[in-house]
Order: sequence, then C-alpha cells, then structure tokens
Amino acid sequence: MKYSSTFSSSPCLLFIFLMIFFNSATATRFNIPRLSPIGGTILQELSGIVLQSHHSEHYKTFYYKQTLDHFNYRPESYSTFRQRYVINFKYWGGANASAPILAYLGAEAPLDGDIAGIGFLTDNAVRFNALLVYIEHRYYGKSIPFGSREEALKNASTLGYFNSAQAIADYAEILIHVKKQYHAEDSPVIVVGGSYGGMLASFFRLKYPHVALGALASSAPILYFDDITPHDGYFSIVTKDFREASETCYQTIRDSWSEIDKVASQLDGLSTLSKKFKTCNPLETTSELKNYLENIYASAAQYNRPPRYPVTVVCGGIDGEAFGSDILSKIFAGVFAYYGGNRSCYVNAPTNLSETTVGWSWQTCSEMVIPIGIENNTMFQADPFVLSEFINKCRAFYGVSPRPHWVTTYYGGHDIKLILQRFGSNIIFSNGLRDPYSSGGVLENISDSIVAVHTVNGSHCLDILPANKSSDPDWLVKQRKIEVEIIEGWIAKYYSDLKALN
Ligand SMILES: *[C@@H]1O[C@H](CO)[C@@H](O)[C@H](O)[C@H]1NC(C)=O
Ligand SMILES: *[C@@H]1O[C@H](CO)[C@@H](O)[C@H](O)[C@H]1NC(C)=O
Ligand SMILES: *[C@@H]1O[C@H](CO)[C@@H](O)[C@H](O)[C@H]1NC(C)=O
Ligand SMILES: *[C@@H]1O[C@H](CO)[C@@H](O)[C@H](O)[C@H]1NC(C)=O
Ligand SMILES: *[C@@H]1O[C@H](CO)[C@@H](O)[C@H](O)[C@H]1NC(C)=O
Ligand SMILES: *[C@@H]1O[C@H](CO)[C@@H](O)[C@H](O)[C@H]1NC(C)=O
Ligand SMILES: *[C@@H]1O[C@H](CO)[C@@H](O)[C@H](O)[C@H]1NC(C)=O
Ligand SMILES: *[C@@H]1O[C@H](CO)[C@@H](O)[C@H](O)[C@H]1NC(C)=O
Repeated sequence: MKYSSTFSSSPCLLFIFLMIFFNSATATRFNIPRLSPIGGTILQELSGIVLQSHHSEHYKTFYYKQTLDHFNYRPESYSTFRQRYVINFKYWGGANASAPILAYLGAEAPLDGDIAGIGFLTDNAVRFNALLVYIEHRYYGKSIPFGSREEALKNASTLGYFNSAQAIADYAEILIHVKKQYHAEDSPVIVVGGSYGGMLASFFRLKYPHVALGALASSAPILYFDDITPHDGYFSIVTKDFREASETCYQTIRDSWSEIDKVASQLDGLSTLSKKFKTCNPLETTSELKNYLENIYASAAQYNRPPRYPVTVVCGGIDGEAFGSDILSKIFAGVFAYYGGNRSCYVNAPTNLSETTVGWSWQTCSEMVIPIGIENNTMFQADPFVLSEFINKCRAFYGVSPRPHWVTTYYGGHDIKLILQRFGSNIIFSNGLRDPYSSGGVLENISDSIVAVHTVNGSHCLDILPANKSSDPDWLVKQRKIEVEIIEGWIAKYYSDLKALN
C-alpha cells in the first residue's frame, strides 16, 4: 500500500461545513466548521505540506471484527463490521521492554491521509521506541457497517450507531486486542488525536484510563458545546487574524458584504457578480457567494500555517489591487491569491459531496452540535446560531432531532477546571491561538498533569503535523518539545509504578 500516493483527505478537519444538503436558498447559516488537522475540501490542495514519503513496507493493515453496538444487548447489537487499523512495527522496542504504543485515534475522515499526515507519531517513534497504531473511525473509509456505505448512510436507523461513544469503545476494543496480540499488556498507550479526533483522545483518557496512560488532544474544542463558549468565538478569531495581518484588508472584507448586497439589488446584479467572481454557474442568491467567501476566510484562518500563512496571502491579494481598486475587485484578488493562481472558475463549482462532509453532517446533526454563529462584532454580517432552526433542519433532513446537551452530559465541559483538577490526569490540550477553534479549547492548566500547551501564532493541529526542520518556526519546535517531555514524564512515572508493583 502506498500511503504517500493515497494522501487524499486530510487529518484534522473540522472545517466550515457546507450544509449543501439543506436548501441552499435559505438564508440561514448552516455551516458548522469541520475540524480536521489538515483541512478538507478546497484546503487539501492548498495544504502546502509536502508529506514525507513513508516506506509502505513498515505499515501493515488489519481489520478487526468490531461490534456494531457496544451498549445494548439487542440481537442486532451483536452485528459486526470490519474496522481498519494500521500498525508500524519498525520502531517498537518490544513487549519485553514494555515499550510504549502511540495510537492515533481517527477522526471524521478515511484513515489513508493520517499515516503520512500525522507527523507526531512518525517523528517521535524512534525517541519513544514506540509501536505506532492508527485506527479508523467507524462509518469512514473502509470501516463501514451494514455492508456498504450506501446502506450505512441510508437513514437514521443505520446511522444511529454513528457516534463518539461507540467510536471510542471501538478504539478501546482494538487497543486491548493489539496489546494482547503482541503480549504488550504492560506497554503504556498514549492516544493522539486532532480536532474532533483530539476531543476523542481526551474523552478516551477520561473514560478508558485502564487502556490509555495519557492523551495528546490537539486543537480539541471540547468547550464549544452548549453555552460554555460564546457562539461568536470562532468568527471573532477569524476576524482578529485578518485584522492582525492587515487593517486595510480587514476593512475591505468588512465593507464587502454590503457592497455585494448593493450590486445584487441592481438590474442584472447577480449576473454582474457572477462575472466579477468568474463563477462556475450563474449565482442564484448572494448567499452562495457570501458563504464561499466566508469559507475561504475561515479556512485561511484555521489553517494559517507556516511557511505560507494563507491569511497573509489572502490579504496580500486584497491589498494588492491586481484586478482593480474597487472593493469587489480587491475581494476577488484575495480569492485568486488564496488559490495561488488562475482557475477556470470560482464559486459554486459542481462538486460531489465528500464522504467526510456526509459523515460529519450526520454527526453535527445528532451529537456534535457546535453552536457557531456570527454576532455583530466581526468583519462578517451578523448571522446568529439559532438552535431551534438548526434542530428543525436536522429533523427535517434525518427524521431525528439533535441532542445539543448530550456531549456535556456524557463527557462534561461546564466548570472543567473545578471538576477535572481532582479527577483525571495525563491530558495535554494543545492549541494555536490563531486557530478559530481555540476559542472552544482548554487554554488553562487544570492540574499538574492536565495541561494546556499553546502558541500565540499557531493554527489548527499544527503541533501534530509533520515536523520540518527547515521551515518550522522556533515556537512550534518548542511546543512539540514541551509535549514530548510531558509525555516522557508520564511514561517514566508509569514505569516506576510498574516496577514497584512487580
Ligand atoms: C520543508 O519546508 C521547506 C521550505 O518551505 C520545503 O521546501 C520542504 O519541501 C519542506 N519539507 C518537507 C519534508 O515538507
Ligand atoms: C521476551 O521474553 C520471553 C520470556 O522471558 C522470551 O522467551 C523471549 O525470547 C523474549 N523476546 C524477546 C524478543 O526478547
Ligand atoms: C430505514 O430504511 C429501512 C429499510 O429501507 C426501513 O426499514 C426503516 O424503517 C428506515 N428507518 C427510518 C427511520 O426511516
Ligand atoms: C488568468 O487567465 C485569464 C484567461 O483565462 C487571463 O486573461 C489572465 O491573464 C490570467 N491571469 C494570470 C495572472 O495568469
Ligand atoms: C462526481 O461523481 C461522478 C460519478 O462518480 C463523476 O462522474 C463526476 O465527474 C464527479 N464530479 C466531480 C465534480 O467530481
Ligand atoms: C450588537 O448587538 C448587540 C446585542 O444585540 C446590540 O446591543 C448592539 O447595539 C449591536 N451593536 C451594533 C454596532 O450593531
Ligand atoms: C501548563 O503547564 C505546562 C507544563 O508545566 C507549561 O509548559 C505550560 O506553559 C502551562 N500552560 C499555561 C497556559 O500556563
Ligand atoms: C506572532 O507573529 C507576529 C507577527 O505576525 C509577531 O510580531 C509576534 O512576535 C509573534 N509572536 C510570537 C510569540 O511568536
């Protein structure tokens, strides 16, 4: 299997989720930014990451016979499906040495991109003498229940088993199986995840302390639920990122929305806009254009990573006036710059919904209700998150209602500092403060071993992406170093406890 060439999707998604399912003519926002380490949709091609080629012979793919429903004892609960996981044995110090296991917990995408994309595992394998295990999330990639993707995604009856509790139970079973298989019962497991996968990693440590010794939860917005984080946290940070990059760029974007409305209200206004933005199909509403632009700005901010720094690139275009000095020409120049060159057309290009988009839309419409809205204090037009509207749309589409309070009921989140300071241990919450999702992240140290490690200029999941000696800024090198040392501390303590017991 060639992982380098199968790199198609991206670790660490959680991107602005285009709710194309739902009537696009409705004015209401229906985007919940998806959380991926590298970035989905348009972001993939722009990731700017040159992935090191990994020698495929060191990776072996396995399929585990997984239970459909871990929590009930109904006859259908016992159905099984094949769940994919991949192991790299090359660096492992072996069971006799109780050498560690680094386990990447898959998120809302096929696993293929993660092998090369999650550099934290490969970059630290030698240092930890670690066995590397990558596990795919159910309902993505090759880990599909009910025999086929079509059947699995058919309706709420089959989608109902698609949730985080089932997913982390899957991970527990597979990790226990792997330890047993290689007689590695004493090997400490460190789980690693980014974005939604980072949430899973932290939840996993809290729910399965007997399976994982610790968790590295990168860019995990575990507090972006219920009312814990202000709804406008995400777009406030997008705005801040642009304003810090360039005040004039920020002003131009801020003024552009009413300019779009103004042009649209004129005779043939939509066709004027369609020409101006070289749209792939004629615009039917201004929200097609506005959502597209919002997505570009949000993606640029979320994945604002070195050495390219897309926010700076977009602002370079907007401030540069390559296509004219009026507001909309400047905005188009920003789009052009974002793509780094000519495309045949922009906006509303015909696309097939990606597997990730389809899966994540179910997840946000059932369990992962992340209330992102836009208030009037950003560079965007206000577009608040209205829970009742969101619920109605999800119910109309899937026939079941979202449960917006379940995540905090099941995993907690309110008063996290008070609750976790004397419960739980060994979790690193890492963030880059320029990542809009950091607004829902854990940014304060909670106890000696539940710690927040963040960087002022970092973006989404940057710390777990492959290291690059020639282009990584010092602050990123330092962040990774701190994380590795913390994990080494956990493992050293574990070995001394183990020794004392034996
Ligand atoms: C590291 O960064 C440099 C400079 O941006 C780039 O040319 C090189 O391809 C990168 N290497 C890898 C392995 O990504
Ligand atoms: C591990 O320990 C067992 C039992 O002591 C021994 O039989 C085996 O050869 C050892 N394996 C390795 C790889 O050292
Ligand atoms: C889902 O589809 C199956 C088979 O087509 C059907 O039996 C079941 O009632 C459907 N469930 C819902 C919730 O519509
Ligand atoms: C982009 O392509 C158009 C024609 O498709 C051409 O007129 C224009 O000069 C190109 N711009 C750049 C910067 O290459
Ligand atoms: C969408 O999928 C169909 C069928 O697989 C394919 O023919 C078409 O080219 C795809 N369109 C795009 C835009 O990828
Ligand atoms: C923003 O919204 C708040 C609350 O709805 C309102 O009190 C305030 O006047 C608004 N500010 C502006 C500048 O519109
Ligand atoms: C939390 O503690 C770690 C380890 O001591 C330290 O590196 C980090 O800077 C602290 N984080 C904050 C936000 O103070
Ligand atoms: C963050 O980046 C800005 C420039 O964009 C720079 O002025 C600042 O020193 C950086 N901060 C840190 C902590 O690296």
